[in-house]
Amino acid sequence: MKKILIAISVLLIIGLGSAYVYLKLVLPVAGEPLKIQVELTPERIARGEYLANAVSACMDCHSARDWNLFSGPLKAGTLGQGGEEFTEKFGFPGNYYSKNITPHSLQNWTDGEILRAMVSGVNKNGDALFPVMPYPAYSQMAREDLYSIIAYLRTLKSVDKANIESSTNFPMNFILNTIPKEAILVENAPDKSDMLAYGKYVFTIASCADCHTKTDKGKPVEGMELAGGFAFPLPGGGTVYSSNITPDMETGIGTMNADAFVARFKAYADTAYVPATVKAGEFNTIMPWTMYGHMEENDLRAIFAYLQSVRPVSNKVTKFVVN
Ligand code: HEC
Ligand code: HEC
Repeated sequence: MKKILIAISVLLIIGLGSAYVYLKLVLPVAGEPLKIQVELTPERIARGEYLANAVSACMDCHSARDWNLFSGPLKAGTLGQGGEEFTEKFGFPGNYYSKNITPHSLQNWTDGEILRAMVSGVNKNGDALFPVMPYPAYSQMAREDLYSIIAYLRTLKSVDKANIESSTNFPMNFILNTIPKEAILVENAPDKSDMLAYGKYVFTIASCADCHTKTDKGKPVEGMELAGGFAFPLPGGGTVYSSNITPDMETGIGTMNADAFVARFKAYADTAYVPATVKAGEFNTIMPWTMYGHMEENDLRAIFAYLQSVRPVSNKVTKFVVN
């Protein structure tokens, strides 16, 4: 009997030991960075600036936002400096801080390493990034668009800012290492004339779903795809809930037409638009309207066409609650 117990204990220790080695030392497996040299053409830099600011909104998370103004527009001079908080108070399984992605901190990263961070979710050393950084979505981005963003990042003004290191709680610190994946690059974005496929592409690389699908312990709630209701406590007090953007007639955007959809975004890109001052406890939103407002009209129309095609889900959302 004793021998059996000893044998079982030994097996258990070996089992746990190998699990530890596997999860902590073997994983994450994101592959070697590509040996690429992205040529900084004016076309790429312009496309990258567009994507990083108006579509994939890298700058939304990697710059400081001014919460005294509606929709938290970016503070001047902070572009790419990082330090924005994604902490336990928002329901994250740890405390994450966006990184400085100006040349100050990326100058010794190769283009392949930056690309790998975007599509596979590991840093220069191969350590896993938490997927609040939307690399699962960016893994669907076409090669040329990825190259364009890299080209643009290389042109950012260097900001000398160190940020707090991210930390992950147990057991996510183990699970996290299973998330990064070696990506198979998408070679071409769908043709712009194919509104549905192209709309799905733009919607994906804009990671709209990350805020518009409720999650439970970091996982999207099944059956609630794009039905909103994700709670975001606001820095100035109160909680904003993401909208139901499925084509449900009563609770979603089923009664909105393409023109109204485009106008909703474009209102924030109008040269006459000045973001309103928001006092503590008043309605504000983390939806980066002032960034998405600069999306090309065709891209917004394509997103709308795609949203019309998703399954309607009935889910009534109260937009704002004062705590
Ligand atoms: C929703 C917020 C969000 C968006 C959008 C976002 N990021 Fe991030 N990013 C983060 C956070 C948070 C981290 C740090 C994650 C961690 O510490 O585990 C990060 C990490 C990174 C890193 C790793 C840097 C390092 O030093 O380890 C790079 C590179 C990066 N992001 C680039 C981008 C680019 C390029 C885009 C747009 C295509 C982008 N990010 C969009 C939140 C975001
Ligand atoms: C950072 C989180 C976040 C991201 C990313 C995000 N949204 Fe939102 N969105 C919200 C929140 C919160 C609201 C509700 C408050 C408001 O109206 O601003 C909202 C509201 C909306 C509305 C208004 C619906 C209505 O009935 O008034 C639309 C449309 C919308 N989002 C579409 C999108 C699309 C399309 C994308 C991607 C391009 C996107 N959102 C990305 C958080 C987000």
